[in-house]
Amino acid sequence: MVGKRPRVFVTSELPGKAVDGRPVLDPLREIADCRVWNRAEMPQPEALRQELSGCEGLLCLLTDRVDRAVIDASAALTTISSCSVGVDHIDVTAATERGIAVGHTPGVLTDATADLAFGLLLAAARRIPEADRFVRDHRWTPERRWEPRMLLGADLSGATLGIVGLGPIGQAMARRAHGFGMRVVGWTRSQRPVDGVEAVSFPRLLEISDFVSVHVALVDATRNLLDAAALATMKPGALVVNTSRGGIVDEDALARALASGALGAAGVDVFDEEPLPEASPLREAQNIVLAPHIGSATYRTRESMARLAVDNLLAGLAGRPLPQCVNPEVRRRA
Ligand code: GLV
Repeated sequence: MVGKRPRVFVTSELPGKAVDGRPVLDPLREIADCRVWNRAEMPQPEALRQELSGCEGLLCLLTDRVDRAVIDASAALTTISSCSVGVDHIDVTAATERGIAVGHTPGVLTDATADLAFGLLLAAARRIPEADRFVRDHRWTPERRWEPRMLLGADLSGATLGIVGLGPIGQAMARRAHGFGMRVVGWTRSQRPVDGVEAVSFPRLLEISDFVSVHVALVDATRNLLDAAALATMKPGALVVNTSRGGIVDEDALARALASGALGAAGVDVFDEEPLPEASPLREAQNIVLAPHIGSATYRTRESMARLAVDNLLAGLAGRPLPQCVNPEVRRRA
């Protein structure tokens, strides 16, 4: 490419290789002056603003808060590429107003995330982490070799799974549930029908489901969707799984419902504040399986996400449409 090389800031090294076997960021390094943040701690907003000065491209993670102040301070920015499907950490409205294209990584993480959601569901239903602690804590003694009432959990087959949000990950969850002999009902804001999923209203879903799994994006309309009032309408002893975003399920209300026995168990991978604060009441609950936001954490998926994030940025820097764009109304000229 003749002419000035674009400048790009990458907020973290990314795992995996490009299709040609080189490190995944190499195609970007080939065409751009690439600065990669390599400190253990994440860049704070002030550092992000400084690093972005003069940059046309940003490759970021879901932990980087790209708010209006960051966008306003980055006059040269034309493309933001997030190595995540969720973009609630980016002020997309501010980016769109500025004509900045925003890319993300849907599709490639669908199965990995649905696998984790189903894993949490099984783990919570069958109390697998509790069982593990039981053995490690030397509570499985010769006097208690096998007891008819030891660590009893919930059956999946024949139970009803309510899926909140029937996008690709919700649909992948439905396929898994069918394999386990579950009845699947679902609610989605678009009310688009999905094969094999009985469409119900949101209140009805809460009322009839033995298990509820959350798969909606965090936007204004879904913030606190499962608040104390909604949780109170769920079946006694029901189980909640959230692998979508914190902020959709009210964590204090969930902790209270788990402690009182109103809800039977939960499996949660995403939190309002991450890492989960030491003082979170969720840490006290025995009947919850906690995970540190690992929905997409498989080798293959993270490599695919990194490749797609790089492809999005390469396209944006070249003035081409991004392969996966959140705001396609932004049309850039090469
Ligand atoms: C993970 O939470 C993602 O948005 O990719």
